[in-house]
Amino acid sequence: MTATETEQRQAIIDACLKMNALGINQGTSGNVSLRHEDGMLISPTSTPYEQLAPEDIVFMAWDGVVDGRLQPSSEWRFHLDIFKARPEVNAVVHAHPNYCTTIAIMGKKIPAIHYMIAVAGGSDIRCAPYATFGTAELSANAVQALQDRKACLLEHHGMIATGASLDKAMWLAVEVEALARQYHGCLQIGEPPLLSEEEIENVIKRMATYGHRDKADAA
Ligand code: 13P
Repeated sequence: MTATETEQRQAIIDACLKMNALGINQGTSGNVSLRHEDGMLISPTSTPYEQLAPEDIVFMAWDGVVDGRLQPSSEWRFHLDIFKARPEVNAVVHAHPNYCTTIAIMGKKIPAIHYMIAVAGGSDIRCAPYATFGTAELSANAVQALQDRKACLLEHHGMIATGASLDKAMWLAVEVEALARQYHGCLQIGEPPLLSEEEIENVIKRMATYGHRDKADAA
């Protein structure tokens, strides 16, 4: 194992621990993967994150062949299928955050309640129809709900966030949970007013230059 691969494996463990520390996941209900060579590195199934060592992270090739001392996450199918369908995605975070899961139990998507919805790629965050965990059907539903989006909810289940890097996927997971929490709050008062499709397009354009703090970048 190269030093870089050991670092990638450790980054997956750190992300798993962070999900629980941030309160966007509990127990071993989440899983994290990184694109790696001709396949992916993924957290193992049902193993408390505190017990994980880099050698416990599982490598799975594109054809599903596994190399590791533990079994891969039971959700390996959607991780693998997302990487195959989305070449720009290098990291996938799946968790059961309380507010995302609450909205998903109700079979609802998160609509354009706040301009930050745009960080997930469009004017809503879809909810993939329910299918049993670990199945090819769930994977197909998730890939479809993620079309033109970086995140989705999973009905009666949880949330998926993707990113060009693990940091970006983790950041998005936290933002999506914040949006779900805000939407849940709105629903206590009534059906919230929404931003228009046009305004979300404006925000997406503006966000393309957001975060360029150096004056030279903005020029
Ligand atoms: P793991 O198999 O990664 O432990 O996943 C459990 C789970 O809840 C999947 O949705």
